[in-house]
Amino acid sequence: MATDYETYEFDVIVIGAGGAGLRAAIESMSEGASTAVITKSLLGKAHTVMAEGGIAASMGNVYPEDNWKVHFRDTMRGGKMLNNWRMAQLHAQEAPDRVLELEEWGAVFDRTADGRISQRDFGGHRYARLAHVGDRTGLEMIRTLQQRSVAMGLTVFAECTILRLLHNEDGSIAGAMGYWRASGSFVVFKAKAVVLATGGIGRSWKVTSNSWECTGDGHALAAWAGADLIDMEFVQFHPTGMVWPVSVKGLLVTEGVRGDGGTLRNSQGERFMFNYIPEMFKSETADTEEEADRWYTDKKGARRTPDLLPRDEVARAINSEVKAGRGTPHGGVYLDIFSRRDPDYIRRRLPSMYHQFKELAGVDITREPMEIAPTCHYFMGGVRVNPETQASTVPGLFACGEAAGGMHGSNRLGGNSLSDLVVFGRRAGLGASEYASSAKAPVVSGGQLSSIASEGEAPLSRNGGENPFDVLHDLQDSMHSLVGIIRTEAELAEALEKLSEFDERAAKASAAPSRQYNTGWHHALDLRCQLTVTRCVAMAARARKESRGGHTRDDFPGPDKEHFGKINLVCRYRDGEVTVTEEPLPQMPAELATLFEETPK
Ligand code: FUM
Repeated sequence: MATDYETYEFDVIVIGAGGAGLRAAIESMSEGASTAVITKSLLGKAHTVMAEGGIAASMGNVYPEDNWKVHFRDTMRGGKMLNNWRMAQLHAQEAPDRVLELEEWGAVFDRTADGRISQRDFGGHRYARLAHVGDRTGLEMIRTLQQRSVAMGLTVFAECTILRLLHNEDGSIAGAMGYWRASGSFVVFKAKAVVLATGGIGRSWKVTSNSWECTGDGHALAAWAGADLIDMEFVQFHPTGMVWPVSVKGLLVTEGVRGDGGTLRNSQGERFMFNYIPEMFKSETADTEEEADRWYTDKKGARRTPDLLPRDEVARAINSEVKAGRGTPHGGVYLDIFSRRDPDYIRRRLPSMYHQFKELAGVDITREPMEIAPTCHYFMGGVRVNPETQASTVPGLFACGEAAGGMHGSNRLGGNSLSDLVVFGRRAGLGASEYASSAKAPVVSGGQLSSIASEGEAPLSRNGGENPFDVLHDLQDSMHSLVGIIRTEAELAEALEKLSEFDERAAKASAAPSRQYNTGWHHALDLRCQLTVTRCVAMAARARKESRGGHTRDDFPGPDKEHFGKINLVCRYRDGEVTVTEEPLPQMPAELATLFEETPK
């Protein structure tokens, strides 16, 4: 085994090149820190592009009465009050500046008639507040951040997967070690600070909007390094993914369709969402079709349509309709925009949706309804961070974007991920560069490197083991059926047994011996991350004996205000074991708490 590994050294390395990672790198470079981004994929290809409909910010361009306090309140209520209040406050306060900054850096947002940045409706937001670029907002953001960071001279290491984080003798972070996906050779990145911006873990579920990169690498790297993970039980199923053809099942259908007037109907033609309005949202949700229709035509003062309730509510409702036998031929419900909007409007506002359905399903959405069903989209759980700096509980380790937890509580509102990426990406870049400015040069023991290399090479040297793809498929099936939208004690217990079986199978799985472009080997290594993170999800889901946001227990159907409404669950990984503990929610200051007593305007 080689011991002289290709080695680089920076003040700050950022793992992940989506919106959060690039924004963190821009800030770190601006502070004068030598900075590199490492991505297992290619620059410009990230799950950020799957936030299509817009970036949430209370700029008040369409509704002047909007402001950060209303956005803060919507976000907390969407998260069923489990959000870290300080993160939600910073997010609501700083999002407008981050949008304007993107515009300054070249993002071409759609405009209002009087030339300001246009803002569209989305679920759970009191006012139309999503700045958008048609239905390609995430793509425009990635393009803008990529251009900005490259112009600043960012160093990018592409197609490089990180295997483990490195430590100094005192336990602080000293960098990371990984391998080049093309050649299979190892590479060491020494760094004073590491920012995790690796996105989510949707690829561990069978039906997902996530691409192959989303295997929970940052969550696992942080857990193995001793960091706390928070809110791991909360998984977001976006209500609208394609259901057919099978080859594109799970592909996202933007919430912008409903924001722009789309309505949901079951196979009997019923606007079923009127039957699923929770108490918490009754005062501000239309309860008749006529009222909802009025809201679309003359929005001022009217109550909103239930098609735009927060995602957890809509996904559960669709799930119930399909289970009750009122689904479409391919197991979804109908989403129709053509009866409210004319073809030109649809093609202008939703160009990707128009093409996606036309090319992939042969459906013309200007004349026909779409068939949709929930798809695993986003992960509310992540690395526990300090809201101001995004520092984790391990010195020198930072996290932002979907890899960090706390901001969204038990359920994220659509559009709040793009704003989260830039608000907390910036803060992570600042936090990491400031930490690096007074940290000692990293010192990494040779023993750490050789043990990571042995772990990495193990699947290559095993003979006659199972194909890692088979373990992955079984993992996806189990998470889908046992840790999905609706959960029970028995199913969660079964999921945990299955995960132990998968651990054993993965530990014996073998990949073909070549290191070059060996996707079987890559999957075997990704599985280590997926199995650690899905265990945290299943254990936390079993421990939370209530239903809240993106966690619904059939055996505990309601929220438990007195106990579970007051705690977060924290997962820790020590000596190969995961533990889950309860911790009290940080206390919200009185001046913010009063916002929830006022009647929404
Ligand atoms: O529906 C969407 O366009 C997704 C947005 C998001 O996840 O924030």
